[in-house]
Amino acid sequence: MPATILDGTKIAQEIRVEIAAEVRDLAAEGLRPGLAVVLVGHNPASEIYVRGKVKACEEIGISSEKLDPPESVTTAELLSLVEHLNRRDDIDGILVQLPLPPQVDAKKVLLTVDPAKDVDGFHPMNVGFLSTQRPGLVPCTPAGVMEILKRSNIPIVGREAVVVGRSDIVGKPAAMLLLNANATVTVCHSRTHDLPTVCRRADILIAAIGRAGMITREFVKQGATVVDVGMNTITDPREFQRFFAGNAKREEAFRKKGSTLIGDVHPEVADIAGAITPVPGGVGPLTIAMLMFNTVKAAKMRRGSNVREPSRR
Ligand code: GUN
Repeated sequence: MPATILDGTKIAQEIRVEIAAEVRDLAAEGLRPGLAVVLVGHNPASEIYVRGKVKACEEIGISSEKLDPPESVTTAELLSLVEHLNRRDDIDGILVQLPLPPQVDAKKVLLTVDPAKDVDGFHPMNVGFLSTQRPGLVPCTPAGVMEILKRSNIPIVGREAVVVGRSDIVGKPAAMLLLNANATVTVCHSRTHDLPTVCRRADILIAAIGRAGMITREFVKQGATVVDVGMNTITDPREFQRFFAGNAKREEAFRKKGSTLIGDVHPEVADIAGAITPVPGGVGPLTIAMLMFNTVKAAKMRRGSNVREPSRR
């Protein structure tokens, strides 16, 4: 039986409707959450992401502001920009889009963001809150992974979860969230021995490596839930054939565009998984929805209001 497709676009839309209702409630109290997005230079991928973030704010009723210092910006200039945003009372969330240019000390910049406004959840104080199960701001993509699992009624308690990838942005916080939700968690990385065998233990497999189609069927236990966090662009026709031969819809799109988006999971895994997130249309849309959630959460936390968790309404 082919896997159930976990529709991230639909789940993200549900969350966005809930957040928009909450923003209307806040407006009735005279409060409008505000997000500042800092985009340095002209990285094309970052520009697309930031456009999506600003558009989502407009649709939901959050005020947003884009700041775009030049590629040549110094660490000191960025620090002073962030410090100014920290002081502004109308700004509840600050997001510094990564990657930053090489001359900038990115760690220093992220450390300067007020933890109460750190809607990316990257500040060490929020990392510490997450690891000690205190209220705080949780990184958007891993938070989105948890929303997909919870809203799709995938059991987590006592299950074996394997996270492939140990980045600060996705792998590590995803592992921590799964652990906090009482899964038994294994974190794998490039030095892990016999990765397929370790992955086959998983009831829930999270792929966050950044390598096109690396997770093939030998990595997956029959019936497992597979969450694909990868976003890889392929342009090589031979590589395209290796993954998508016989998929007429993809072939036509690839011919027109010259590229296609693929996750870290090989399409053949859909034959063996119990449930799987597609790429595109899986985890991606949740990242923006959870950013909106974090911005509203930050606005309420700074003003001492109660925060409702998205899955417990
Ligand atoms: N670049 C790629 N993903 C992200 C993210 O989640 N947050 C930020 N700030 N930059 C990114």
